[in-house]
Amino acid sequence: MKTHLMTETLSADRILVWDKCHNGMGNLNDWGIGYEYIFLFKKGSPRIRGDRVNGVISYKHIGYFEKTVHPTQKPTGLIKLIILKSIGKEEGIVLDPFMGSGTTAVACKQLNKDFIGFEINRAYVNIANRRLSMQPESLEKWIS
Ligand SMILES: C[S@@+](CC[C@H](N)C(=O)[O-])C[C@H]1O[C@@H](n2cnc3c(N)ncnc32)[C@H](O)[C@@H]1O
Repeated sequence: MKTHLMTETLSADRILVWDKCHNGMGNLNDWGIGYEYIFLFKKGSPRIRGDRVNGVISYKHIGYFEKTVHPTQKPTGLIKLIILKSIGKEEGIVLDPFMGSGTTAVACKQLNKDFIGFEINRAYVNIANRRLSMQPESLEKWIS
């Protein structure tokens, strides 16, 4: 039933690739796997914002200061870029069913966008909440 609902209302024809700009971990005697797939679901027929760009996005991995203990934390800048290109600043609600350390939530808060997130691991929920609490209510308040 849940699967039916997902395919009825959301489609994942936007499968992007994150090029991490390095060879990645793993077998040093074989090809480097310095990339990850990004499954981007959409509701309705949203258009890409601004110029059309390639779905392979080269973006450097997170630096020391952004890193939490979550093993697969994504760069906040990468997630912000994907949100802005995919649904723009004004519309939509972002849903991330696998929040991890809360990068999507942090990105949304910085962009002043509404979001819904799920995370099964309580320790990661705590990390996400801590990261969120460190964000100002609205960046616009900072500069106005
Ligand atoms: C690839 S990580 C997400 C990393 C995240 N984008 C970040 O930047 O920190 C996937 C997360 O999904 C969570 N997860 C796995 N199964 C889940 C489920 N059934 N419901 C909710 N969360 C789940 C894992 O605990 C893990 O933290």
